[in-house]
Amino acid sequence: VAKRETHPPAPAEDVVSDSTKTHRVTVAFDLAVHFTEGVFDSGNAALVDALARQEPQRRHRVFAVLDGGLVAANPQLPGEVCRYFQAHAHRAALAAPPMVVDGGEAVKNDDRAVRGVLARLHELRIDRQSFVLAVGGGAVLDMVGYAAATAHRGVRLVRLPTTVLAQADSGIGVKNGINAFGKKNFLGTFAPPFAVINDVRLLATLSERDAIAGMSEAVKVALVRDGLFFEWLRAHAASLRARNSRALAALVRHSAELHLRHIATSGDPFELGSARPLDFGHWAAHKLESLTAYGLRHGEAVAIGIALDTLYSVKAGLCPERLADSVLETLERLGFSLWDEALATRSASGRPRVLDGLEEFREHLGGELTITLLRDAGVGVEVHEMDERLIAHAIEDLRERTGRLTLIRPHRARAAG
Ligand SMILES: NC(=O)c1ccc[n+]([C@@H]2O[C@H](COP(=O)([O-])OP(=O)(O)OC[C@H]3O[C@@H](n4cnc5c(N)ncnc54)[C@H](O)[C@@H]3O)[C@@H](O)[C@H]2O)c1
Ligand SMILES: [Zn+2]
Repeated sequence: VAKRETHPPAPAEDVVSDSTKTHRVTVAFDLAVHFTEGVFDSGNAALVDALARQEPQRRHRVFAVLDGGLVAANPQLPGEVCRYFQAHAHRAALAAPPMVVDGGEAVKNDDRAVRGVLARLHELRIDRQSFVLAVGGGAVLDMVGYAAATAHRGVRLVRLPTTVLAQADSGIGVKNGINAFGKKNFLGTFAPPFAVINDVRLLATLSERDAIAGMSEAVKVALVRDGLFFEWLRAHAASLRARNSRALAALVRHSAELHLRHIATSGDPFELGSARPLDFGHWAAHKLESLTAYGLRHGEAVAIGIALDTLYSVKAGLCPERLADSVLETLERLGFSLWDEALATRSASGRPRVLDGLEEFREHLGGELTITLLRDAGVGVEVHEMDERLIAHAIEDLRERTGRLTLIRPHRARAAG
């Protein structure tokens, strides 16, 4: 009778060698973006449906954080949010009355706001199956998203963007973060939200400045992805500037879809490579934001960055000159100013300080510098270096162009008045 071996065979002791085992681990995620109107009307189920998507039978726990600027313009909002959850009490409940945080870039500039949100998540025992509902502009969404992504290594986040920029661009994305050490978005994570809900009605109380600012991201994505959309923006610039709600809704929706399509199909949703094709105009924009101590809104800086890189694309022989005319005109018709004195600031050696933005951009992405420029409306092209003399010329062009406009404008104003 053969003896049964009861132990696993011992590893062969005489084999000493290096080895590597690589397993491909694929993690799929659903990014659900809903478009609705009147999201907090008690008859509107879009929000609770989104919360209950995975476990329709459960009663979900929600902690809501609201943007203070949004609440200042809509003082009834915290009450509306409470009433909404009362009306849907069998499906979802607030863990506490909504928390209101400051709005705007200030919430990203030091970590007190993040710590405040984290402290509430801790006190309320928000777990990984509960929801954080972030309602506000891009800055509040970035900050709250960062808190949600780091608490318990990731609590479910539902974003409800309330600015044009956040609905058309940042709210859709997978990024969050805050600024640190003087660097924009130095701390942050890539974390897909559980759901995003865009309600165009929430845009009605935006200041004119913020309504305009967000449109530059639509121009940006149109220029690198969709020439017909750029033509549409160009044709509707006047009604967009006048905040025609149908035009604005169409801008937000199409821009959001293009951003979403990029995340879903680019093959690099977490930006592991050094290319960031949708960040056209952003190397200069990020630098201009910090040079102005965030006096320029992100969207305003992006408009200048787009103008600069379009002029550069012409000077570098990449795209036809007429494209620069139509891009700059469209931005101006939307209400953007394409000059800021920060463009004129120079280091001790006389080099425009905005040029430091190139190296900072490279550092932020890692690896080789990769900048998207334009070949035509709707067609981007990647380059790995930029000629500083040509950038300086493009800056001069912007100054001259805007100088001409400033000479014209007071005259127009007098004529009108
Ligand atoms: N995560 C990303 O992928 C991504 C992408 C682009 C931009 N961003 C970030 O987004 C931020 C800019 O966001 P933003 O342009 O939305 O500006 P913002 O968040 O600074 O908001 C602008 C102002 O509008 C107020 N506000 C918000 N909604 C309102 C409403 N409906 N009515 C009245 N006031 C309202 C805010 O309180 C604030 O004062 C920047 O920090 C930028 O870096 C992030
Ligand atoms: Zn941007």
